[in-house]
Amino acid sequence: MKLFTPAKIGPVELRNRTIRSAAFEGMGKDNNPTPQLRDYHWSVARGGIGMTTLAYTSVNRKGISFDTQVWLRPEIIKDMREITDGIHSYGAKASIQVGHCGNMTHWRTAGGIPVGASGGFNLYSPTILRSLRKDEIVQTARDFGNSVRLARDAGFDCVEVHAGHGYLISQFLSPYTNHRRDEYGGSLDNRMRFMRMCMEEVMEAAGSDMGIVVKTNMRDGFKGGLEIDDCLTVAHELEQLGAHALVLSGGFVSKAPMYVMRGEMPIYTMTHYMKQWWLKYGVRMVGKMMIPTEPFKELYFLDDARRFRSELKLPLIYVGGVVSREGIDKVLDEEGFDFVQMGRALINQPDFVNRLRDGACRCDCDHVNYCIARMYSEDMRCHKHLNDLPDRINREIAEIKERDAKRL
Ligand SMILES: Cc1cc2nc3c(=O)[nH]c(=O)nc-3n(C[C@H](O)[C@H](O)[C@H](O)COP(=O)(O)O)c2cc1C
Repeated sequence: MKLFTPAKIGPVELRNRTIRSAAFEGMGKDNNPTPQLRDYHWSVARGGIGMTTLAYTSVNRKGISFDTQVWLRPEIIKDMREITDGIHSYGAKASIQVGHCGNMTHWRTAGGIPVGASGGFNLYSPTILRSLRKDEIVQTARDFGNSVRLARDAGFDCVEVHAGHGYLISQFLSPYTNHRRDEYGGSLDNRMRFMRMCMEEVMEAAGSDMGIVVKTNMRDGFKGGLEIDDCLTVAHELEQLGAHALVLSGGFVSKAPMYVMRGEMPIYTMTHYMKQWWLKYGVRMVGKMMIPTEPFKELYFLDDARRFRSELKLPLIYVGGVVSREGIDKVLDEEGFDFVQMGRALINQPDFVNRLRDGACRCDCDHVNYCIARMYSEDMRCHKHLNDLPDRINREIAEIKERDAKRL
């Protein structure tokens, strides 16, 4: 069985096959890391993980969508060093997800009008935006490369480039968000140009000592987005560009948000934590329509991921509904994946990997997605760790559990 055997991502060796997926912690303050963020990742490292990933950091100011998101820049290197030193002291490796939120940013957080592959209006942010100029495209690709240098200075072993979920690289790839008429739009080859530029910068900066992982979509998850054949072409291109491993995901925040994580979004809970009254009431009215439920099942991405496994040679990281020892062994030993990433299992139990080692069969996450609804406005927490939730939230959680039980 592979689970507790070491393996490499590029030059970096992990003690076992588990990685904490990039799941936004919402624990930064004014775009800086905090002791809470540090303590959470230390707890996952102490809990036996092979590598933990600090989520959703931005490569530049224009890419930021929350104050609680970390903006990777020289001023924070010392504090980030403290985080990675601690992670290493517990025997785990440290990775950092770098990206640019593009059309999911806001005027205030991005320090100006939000930018994307193309201009327009994004209801899911909600914001109007303009398309990136060519000089800005070149600079943004350089910022991706620079983020790898900063990550190295901060003591990270790996960098995870976010090329999925409808964030900037994915906005260029997808015909839904890329309507450009220049060399960055049109054919898939043109739409991959920005990703290629980012990856060239990233791989050059990575040199011979950093591992480079790319999170990529297997489908955008809605009609009019990328389907599996185009995503396979993208994955082949990433392999050619020298990525050391791919995380196979799917979904698009501004069109199919629950395709990524599956299950139901607790709309009341989400709006309860929202600060702007107009957003709160707007989402309460139309949230169910904008964020449709995508039923959860264990290993929900496995059918698509299998095709990628059969066509690609590089190490592949399976993510999506990893909840049990049986499922992990299936993915690693029977299906030929090299690593598993877990998000919610480790939000619920940061020491889930040690529990597996000690014989646990299943995590205690119930996938009611309270952590997701909360993350947009507060820090990421599991509802099972909180005993003072308002009655209305507890009621919503109970109702979702009931509906989930009927769906099974
Ligand atoms: C609270 C929460 C926040 C997330 N934030 C991110 C993120 O910042 N970047 C990302 O690539 N995926 C994000 N995800 C998706 C997870 O990394 C992962 O792909 C997904 O949850 C499926 O894994 P799981 O079934 O083990 O939770 C998030 C998921 C959750 C639950």
